[in-house]
Amino acid sequence: WATHAPYVAAILELKKQRNAVILAHNYMTPEIYHGISDVVGDSLQLAIEATRVEADVIVQCGVHFMAETSKILSPEKTVLIPDMEAGCSLAESITAEGVAEMRRRYPGAPVVTYVNTTAEVKAASDICCTSSNAAQIVAAMEEDTIIMTPDQYLAQNIAQQVPEKNIVWWEGSCIVHEQYTAKDLRDFREWNPGTRLIAHPECPPDVVAEADFSGSTSGIVKYVTDEKPEKALLITECSMASNIADQLPEVEFVGPCNMCPYMKKITLEKVLWSLHTMTEPVEVDPEVAEKARVAVQRMIDLSQ
Ligand code: 13P
Ligand code: SF4
Repeated sequence: WATHAPYVAAILELKKQRNAVILAHNYMTPEIYHGISDVVGDSLQLAIEATRVEADVIVQCGVHFMAETSKILSPEKTVLIPDMEAGCSLAESITAEGVAEMRRRYPGAPVVTYVNTTAEVKAASDICCTSSNAAQIVAAMEEDTIIMTPDQYLAQNIAQQVPEKNIVWWEGSCIVHEQYTAKDLRDFREWNPGTRLIAHPECPPDVVAEADFSGSTSGIVKYVTDEKPEKALLITECSMASNIADQLPEVEFVGPCNMCPYMKKITLEKVLWSLHTMTEPVEVDPEVAEKARVAVQRMIDLSQ
């Protein structure tokens, strides 16, 4: 913390001067999560918070699609991302043309798109979802066949939870969660009996089937906080456990974990630079933003 303290102090001061708030995803490093952020949460919570911000500036400590979502929901605000290269393998896996191709393949089926996508892809979709509300959104659709893009594993996990729907999917995946295998979990359980295994639904379905619980990043925080298992393995990004370990001293968090190289592009130094220079502003074409807002707002309305 000694090395972080001068950055934290400078960021907190600049934040006041700029009338800025920092929205941080649960995968940010502890010095960002605990040191400088005003709001922390999963994708849905951050999207909802973006609609409530009163400050002039939002600094998005997360990946690019999250900053775009904030801009879509708060177009009059300046939304900054400290590193434009903070992408996402899911967002990169599909374009608006991919959505159109799915519509041609499955005529009449609504497109439920994960928020981990570009504004153009959201604009081409009927409604968005996050990992915390996907089952609820899919179940609320009138049609029997539902297109889910772009995460094949989230789609397959939701298909098990909502068996009355015929879910078809795009073949995207998250480079962090696709690395886990069901055998990893079985081996881990054998060698570490009594450890609670908790998986994000971006993991393949056979991995989720081996876990004791699966949920969004905030769902994971809630589960561990409520259950307080003696030992827990979070089958997700490394910062998740680091961020909650201090407030849960009775839980021993064990490894291994996987790092998201995109999330880790956001550092204290870059946040300071971002506030100092007011870069990089995230812009979304107003026509695209208007269509994307309909899909995101439909999701928010259905989730509340
Ligand atoms: P959550 O919505 O569960 O936070 O997951 C978002 C995500 O994929 C972060 O990479
Ligand atoms: Fe994208 Fe996966 Fe990284 Fe989340 S953890 S930002 S889904 S690559």
